[in-house]
Amino acid sequence: MPVEPGHAPGAARHKGYTRMKGENHLISWITQNKRTTAAGIVPAIRALLGCAAVRVSFIEEEKLPAVSGDAIVLDGAAFATLDALLAELSVQLPERAVSAVFISGLGTFRINPTTPAKRQARLAGRICLVTGAAQGFGEGIARELAAAGGVLVIADLNEPAALQVADDLNREHGEGTAFSVRVDVGNEASVQQMVETVVLSLGGIDLLISNAGVLRAGGLEEMSLETFEFVTRINYTAFFLVSKYGSVPMKLQTRFAPDCTTDIIQINSKSGLEGSNRNFAYAGSKFGGIGLVQSFAKELVADRIKVNAICPGNYYEGPLWSDPEKGLFIQYLKAGKVPGAKSVEDVYNFYVDKVPMRRGCSPVDVTRAILYCVEQTYETGQAMPVTGGQNMLK
Ligand SMILES: NC(=O)c1ccc[n+]([C@@H]2O[C@H](COP(=O)([O-])OP(=O)(O)OC[C@H]3O[C@@H](n4cnc5c(N)ncnc54)[C@H](O)[C@@H]3O)[C@@H](O)[C@H]2O)c1
Repeated sequence: MPVEPGHAPGAARHKGYTRMKGENHLISWITQNKRTTAAGIVPAIRALLGCAAVRVSFIEEEKLPAVSGDAIVLDGAAFATLDALLAELSVQLPERAVSAVFISGLGTFRINPTTPAKRQARLAGRICLVTGAAQGFGEGIARELAAAGGVLVIADLNEPAALQVADDLNREHGEGTAFSVRVDVGNEASVQQMVETVVLSLGGIDLLISNAGVLRAGGLEEMSLETFEFVTRINYTAFFLVSKYGSVPMKLQTRFAPDCTTDIIQINSKSGLEGSNRNFAYAGSKFGGIGLVQSFAKELVADRIKVNAICPGNYYEGPLWSDPEKGLFIQYLKAGKVPGAKSVEDVYNFYVDKVPMRRGCSPVDVTRAILYCVEQTYETGQAMPVTGGQNMLK
């Protein structure tokens, strides 16, 4: 299902909130854009209720001018600053079991408990956003994380394919397991909107996987500036963008939940650890990604946000390599890149011979490394090879 805030069926108009004189005056901390203001509150509410224990969604007052009976009701105009409102919530929320918080002048924050099945699973209902999850590594990682009890956001440029993956996961693991959202990770406004939509629909981000990436090979003579800049934008700049906007709700979560840690993980590559012949645009963008990982890790450690990279070997069974028309195996066969190769199988054997464990990397291999990064609490800023022994740290 596409991410969209829901509506509370049968909600009763709240009786305890009386309209006050001057209510319509501008409350300074509520900006013109109520959704943006609300995005600065939702992760705090979820964190105060135990992060993965609940999901929180926001509905503007104009769309739902009412709340259910057990809601906490606050008059937005009574608080001079957002911090004052958050301080009041941190007193009231842990003390009462409520299904919603209503803030006049803003709207309703609905609280939905995580299902018992998810709470008991390994990821315990963590909200996991995976970019580029409509196919390939991203799709496989999303499927493994859903099986481990995560709530998945399938974020991709390819909207129909993302929706298909989300629908599959909901059928397999229960409604509410997965949501799809369209994003172009190379576009700042699109990334900002993706994060806001996810936060307002689900309540925050516990695990952000920056996976979307592109490969355009070529030596110095054939590589155009346009292609070089395209690869750099999607593999390198986009990691900056998703970390910039994705870390905002994470900081709020860790501020209001002292036991909570969050993770940003970049799906890098073995080409981020060792140069790649006639593939420098890709390798350079991946090397740069590791510089960002180390720097973000140092900056965000005080906010208890871990930042790590996973550097997979080639996913030979995935579409990038195995697509019968556009895959790298068929391209390399046609281009005569592997001397003496007469079939796709010959090309496959040439590449698999380079791997001591004699197989390609799979989404299961990568997800095991992701789960390690999430579960351990004493490592940040690392780049972890998952290459069957092909790359070893020097
Ligand atoms: N396939 C491999 O052998 C391999 C090896 C090592 C690392 N990696 C890395 O793994 C990641 C995934 O690679 P893959 O092989 O699964 O790729 P893929 O081409 O199979 O899938 C990439 C996905 O990203 C999406 N995407 C592309 N541009 C986007 C954009 N601007 N905004 C949002 N989504 C976008 C695509 O629609 C697609 O669904 C990449 O970062 C890649 O560098 C891949």
